[in-house]
Amino acid sequence: MKEKILSILRNTKAEDGFISGQSISDQLKVSRTAVWKSIQTLRKEGYEIEAVNNKGYKLISAPDIMTESEITSQMKTKWLGREFHFLSSVNSTNEYAKILSAGGSPDGTVVVGDQQTAGKGRLGRTWESPKGCAIYISYLLKPRDLRPEKASELTIVAALATAKALTRVTGVETGIKWPNDIIVEGKKVCGILTEMSTDLSHIEHVIIGIGVNVNMNSFPDELSEKAISLKMVLGHTVKRAPVICEMLSQFEKYYEIFMKTGDLSGIKKEYMDMLLDRDQKVQIIEHDTNRNWIGKATEITDDGALIVEKDDGSQVSVISGEVSVRGIYGYV
Ligand code: BTN
Repeated sequence: MKEKILSILRNTKAEDGFISGQSISDQLKVSRTAVWKSIQTLRKEGYEIEAVNNKGYKLISAPDIMTESEITSQMKTKWLGREFHFLSSVNSTNEYAKILSAGGSPDGTVVVGDQQTAGKGRLGRTWESPKGCAIYISYLLKPRDLRPEKASELTIVAALATAKALTRVTGVETGIKWPNDIIVEGKKVCGILTEMSTDLSHIEHVIIGIGVNVNMNSFPDELSEKAISLKMVLGHTVKRAPVICEMLSQFEKYYEIFMKTGDLSGIKKEYMDMLLDRDQKVQIIEHDTNRNWIGKATEITDDGALIVEKDDGSQVSVISGEVSVRGIYGYV
């Protein structure tokens, strides 16, 4: 009910932004008193809702609270997030999504946490996940017709979609460090961890977990050289719910393009335009041999490998998961 009223208030077509209590109660087939009670509850949650005699209600502002209603009332997606789980605290949204998958939750299920007590980063690292100031989100995907070796390409789809969403909502200029770190002002604002489960030759599920640093004021010493939040760049708090909704819309769009072609050809140009490593000297660290070498990153292939040109002119295609890429003077 609250969610529906919020959604009606947000989508009113009237020029002055008002909608009458009668019209809301007609649409929802509930009494005007019930509408009024829900408006009171929303106000208690921090929504500023104006009420004027003979005009009705108008939504003036929404707080940066992350509740299920705040997020779902702004969602514009067709299928991504139609099953939606919001948790004020969770060990890891990726772990939670795994349990949901086993319980039969469908393709497109989304899990959001306001805090993680055991957030996971790539390469077995932990992901610091304090409460109330960041986005921790996982997309559960069940692309049965996608071959398991293609799943890592979804990480690239997610990086592009998230970078676009962050820029669209906040205006902050974002870039991508191959394959999937999102960078603002030379520091990491977002990380992505993709996990997969397969049975024989089929994908059971792919879980794309995304952590966005939104309203942190600072980071612990060991991270401060590398990490940044949107608030630190903009100088003001950013509301997380609209960012989440845009992330979902962008991912849905790019994922559909990806699934149509079965590779990255349809989104490669846009990805390359955001790729910070492009035409840069990079250091490649091979995980299995621990060997380091330097070359110039030129482009990505349709299946997401990074092409690196060595000094002798030979080209090597490096695969995510097998190498780490660093700038030669720092992280990016
Ligand atoms: C990285 O190391 O760059 C990847 C970080 C991924 C963090 C996100 S937060 C939501 C999801 N749940 C997790 O436990 N990890 C991912």
